[in-house]
Amino acid sequence: MSGEQRELNSWVFMVTARAPTNIAVIKYWGKRDEKLILPINDSISVTLDPDHLSATTTVAVSPSFSSDRMWLNGKEVSLGGERYQNCLREIRSRGRDVVDEKSGTLIKKEDWQTLHLHIASHNNFPTAAGLASSAAGFACLVYALAKLMDIEERYAGELSAIARQGSGSACRSLYGGFVKWDMGKERDGSDSIAVQLATEEHWEELVILVAVVSSRQKETSSTTGMRESVETSELLHHRAQEVVPKRIVQMQEAIANHDFASFARITCVDSNQFHAVCLDASPPIFYMNDTSHRIINCIEKWNRFEGTPQVSYTFDAGPNAVICAPSRKVAGLLLQRLLYYFPPDSSKELSSYVIGDTSILGEIG
Ligand code: DP6
Repeated sequence: MSGEQRELNSWVFMVTARAPTNIAVIKYWGKRDEKLILPINDSISVTLDPDHLSATTTVAVSPSFSSDRMWLNGKEVSLGGERYQNCLREIRSRGRDVVDEKSGTLIKKEDWQTLHLHIASHNNFPTAAGLASSAAGFACLVYALAKLMDIEERYAGELSAIARQGSGSACRSLYGGFVKWDMGKERDGSDSIAVQLATEEHWEELVILVAVVSSRQKETSSTTGMRESVETSELLHHRAQEVVPKRIVQMQEAIANHDFASFARITCVDSNQFHAVCLDASPPIFYMNDTSHRIINCIEKWNRFEGTPQVSYTFDAGPNAVICAPSRKVAGLLLQRLLYYFPPDSSKELSSYVIGDTSILGEIG
C-alpha cells in the first residue's frame, strides 16, 4: 500500500469466484494423515455443472477490517478451525504485489500477512447433506483467495494441495471434467494433488441427475465416519490396498475410451463397497436410507432389463442419489421412471431432481 492509501483506510478490494462440486466415482474414504488430509487411496471424480451445484465466494480485503471473518449462506461462521487457518496461511504466504485497478491501490506482498479478510460464501444446494458442499466450498475459497492475491496461475498445481487441507475432496473441485486425486507418497503431502484426466468436452454426452432424497444435515460427518472406518473396519483396508488400485486403472480406461458400460459398473460397485465399509465400521454408519435403497433397486432393475441403456448410481456420505446417464435422451427416460416411482411432491421422501452436465471451474468478476 502507498502511504496515501494507508491514511485513507477506505478502500475495499474484492474478488468473486465460483466452484462446482464434484462427485466421486471411485471414493476417497480414509486418511493416513488427519492433519494434512492425506488419503489411503487414489480417487476419481466428475466435476458437476456450477449452475446447479456450486459455491460462490466473495473475498474482500480492506485496512478497515479488524479481523478475519466469514459468512456461510448469510450466517457468520468461525474461521478459527485448523482447516480454515491452514488454507489462509498457505495462500497468504504466496501472495504477490497486487494493484486494484479501480482504486489504484497497491497491496504489497507483505501486506497480505497483516490485512484482514472478509469472506462471504453461498452454496446453491444443501450444505452437509452428502452433496459434497465442503468440496465446492473449500475449492472456491482457495481459488477466490488465489485470484485476490494474483497467484491463481503461478501456483495452479499447489492450489489443489492447499484446498485438500480444507477438505480432501475439495482438491478435485479445482478442475473441471474428470479428475483423479493421486494419494501421493510424500509425508508432507506435496504430491497428494488432483490432476485432470480429461476435460468435460471429452465426454459431453454424459448427463448427471441428482435425486435430492433429503437435504437435512447428515448425522455423521465424512471426517468422523472416515476416522471410525479406519479404526474399526477390516474391509476398508482390503478395499484401499487390493480393490481400489485395480479399479482406478479400469476407470481411467473406461473414461479414456468412452466406455459407459464399464464406467457405470465400476461406479455402482464402488459406491456399494464404500457403504459396505461404513456398515463394517463399529458401530456401523448408515448414510443411505430406505429411499436410497429403493432407488438402487429401481436402477438395478432398469439396467438388467434388456434394451434399456445402462445408467449408474452413486451415493456419498448421505442419502442423495447421483445418477449418471450416457445421454440426455436416456436421462429423460430414466427421469420419467423415477418420477413415477418417486414423485417429489406427494411422497415427501424425495424433494427434487437436478439435471446437470460435467463442467469447468466457473469464474465471476
Ligand atoms: C464420501 O472430503 O468431505 O464424498 O477430507 O474429512 O473433509 P474430509 O472429507 P470429505 O469426504 C468426502 C467423502 C466422499 C467420497 C469422495 O468424495 O471421494
